[in-house]
Amino acid sequence: MEKILFMNGSPNRNGNTFTIGEEALKNIEHTILQMADYKVSQYGQVYEDDQIKDIFKEIEKADTLVIGAPIYWYTVGGILKTFIDRLYMLPEAEMLKGKKLYVFAQGSAPNKECYDNITYLMKRVATLMDMELKGLAIGADSEKAKIIKELNIK
Ligand SMILES: Cc1cc2nc3c(=O)[nH]c(=O)nc-3n(C[C@H](O)[C@H](O)[C@H](O)COP(=O)(O)O)c2cc1C
Repeated sequence: MEKILFMNGSPNRNGNTFTIGEEALKNIEHTILQMADYKVSQYGQVYEDDQIKDIFKEIEKADTLVIGAPIYWYTVGGILKTFIDRLYMLPEAEMLKGKKLYVFAQGSAPNKECYDNITYLMKRVATLMDMELKGLAIGADSEKAKIIKELNIK
């Protein structure tokens, strides 16, 4: 059976990102990973208690990743952005190859630049990591149903 991992990229463990992800995965078996529970240093910083490898222990078990993020400053929030930065030159990032990916981002009032920036970023991440981008949805936190419909998790 397909194993799905929902990665909540918001510092709010029960906020809009989490609610949308859980609603999109209603009646679909999945595991939740709260990215905010992991201490992940910035690219180039070296801390002994860095936990990026613990995140990859969960990713390894999954066939499909559903990644959600709040929009901060017209792009994905820092938790997800730091994770993406860390993929560079990280041997574990090889694990992403061939996995299916659904991504959504939501903000209080996303403008065109938010759509453009996040679409470009996440498409490039999927291509460069050799992942199959199955769904990408961006919208306002007031339009949860629209985001879930667009994401179309199957
Ligand atoms: C630092 C910061 C920057 C933000 N920047 C944007 C933004 O550029 N565009 C937008 O639509 N919303 C922006 N927001 C609003 C959040 O994206 C919005 O409240 C979101 O629903 C929070 O998701 P969460 O409940 O999962 O944490 C920002 C919020 C914060 C805290």
